[in-house]
Amino acid sequence: MSRTVYVNGDYVAEEDAKVSVFDRGFLFADGVYEVTSVLGGKLIDFDGHAKRLERSLTELEMTSPVTMDELLEIHRQLVERNDVEEGMVYLQITRGAADRDFAYPKDATPTIVLFTQEKNLIESPAAKTGMKVISIEDQRWGRRDIKTVQLLYPSMGKMMAKAAGADDAWMVEDGFVTEGTSNNAYIVTKEGVLVTRHLGNEILHGITRAAVLRFAREAQMKVEERPFTVEEAKNAAEAFITSASTFVMPVVEFDGDAIGEGTPGPVAARLREIYLDESQKKAV
Ligand code: PDD
Repeated sequence: MSRTVYVNGDYVAEEDAKVSVFDRGFLFADGVYEVTSVLGGKLIDFDGHAKRLERSLTELEMTSPVTMDELLEIHRQLVERNDVEEGMVYLQITRGAADRDFAYPKDATPTIVLFTQEKNLIESPAAKTGMKVISIEDQRWGRRDIKTVQLLYPSMGKMMAKAAGADDAWMVEDGFVTEGTSNNAYIVTKEGVLVTRHLGNEILHGITRAAVLRFAREAQMKVEERPFTVEEAKNAAEAFITSASTFVMPVVEFDGDAIGEGTPGPVAARLREIYLDESQKKAV
């Protein structure tokens, strides 16, 4: 069935949606994106995603073609028009179409595209079984805090994971884990300390990460925001990832070694439950 998507001010059938071949998103990956999950027909953590979008745009000297209020309305319209109960809204803003030139064009009009994807996010099989992860070298550019659409290395990482019989890859730089291909990475030490990399240019500042760390602290868990090594991950009691499309998802195997008991751990299960409860209460 054809979806209704949003392109530059219009709600159109997906087969009628068109963007120029000169669009800089297509030619230079000159664009940013957000993924917001939908549960019970409502948007999860919308404010956080809107704020990060503004930050990504500012870092690239781009401006949004719509206000954040308009953006919320477009998200809601798409959820309603496509009858989405559970899934995601994908949003992309590029610098727009201009004759090919490395320098930013002065007068291009930004392109804005949004579409929905239906998906069972809560009853995901991986939430019960846990994920297998491998380590790969982090070969991305140095501004991973900007949520750009240049996702080829993360795609290659997923393919490397698949080839190794795993579900995802954690990227490693100078011996320390940065993050997953499309998620933030965490371990729980044998002493019960929750460890995840500190914020900086090396990782995306996950919206789910911010909420989960807040809930962990509120639940009196000890949290350390610092880099951790591959060895620490292998010796951890538990590991998990967070993202808008997975919430909190346990990791049970790393580079072929079982983490802890090799089954989803209690901290990940508890944080997943708290996140799902609390974020749905605030959903818009
Ligand atoms: N990915 N790190 C990277 C590299 C990501 O691509 C993502 C999100 C995250 C988690 O951020 P958040 O909690 O705000 O979703 C961390 C999205 C879901 C994607 O590309 O589909």
